[in-house]
Amino acid sequence: MLSEKMQAALNKQINAELHSAYIYLSMAAYFEDKNLTGFAHWMRVQAKEELGHAMKFFDFIVERRGRVWLEPVAAVPTEWASPLAVFENALAHEQKVTGLIHGLVNLAIEERDHAANSFLQWFVDEQVEEEASADAIVQQLKLAGDSGVALLMLDRELGARQGD
Ligand code: FEO
Repeated sequence: MLSEKMQAALNKQINAELHSAYIYLSMAAYFEDKNLTGFAHWMRVQAKEELGHAMKFFDFIVERRGRVWLEPVAAVPTEWASPLAVFENALAHEQKVTGLIHGLVNLAIEERDHAANSFLQWFVDEQVEEEASADAIVQQLKLAGDSGVALLMLDRELGARQGD
């Protein structure tokens, strides 16, 4: 059984992951509007990944005979100054999510919930990857600078991102 505290914290994380999906979908809409369909595709794939993360928490709570509560999802930004600003926002967001995951691990240790701790390790590793991929694109966009050609090349590259 999950402790009340652990159950509440895991439910909060479902909301955070759904919020992430909503943010990335909003970023996809921004890129669609700019006709940067490769960037938009990357963001759509990312939004689906976040939904997958939310479902992992959902399923874990159910498996532990806990109760899932879905709370309202907070509003997200809809406009950014540039593609670089979008990815800087994405990187900052992932750094924040990493902090949330680490907080959950700390709680699992406090509560001596070894199953939750083990479950959360997947997310600890995933966050390293999430931060690295956002950061890599921030660096590429900085290199691209004001070059429209470089931006279009990057758009083509991001359009090839695999994912369901
Ligand atoms: Fe669910 Fe991007 O972390």
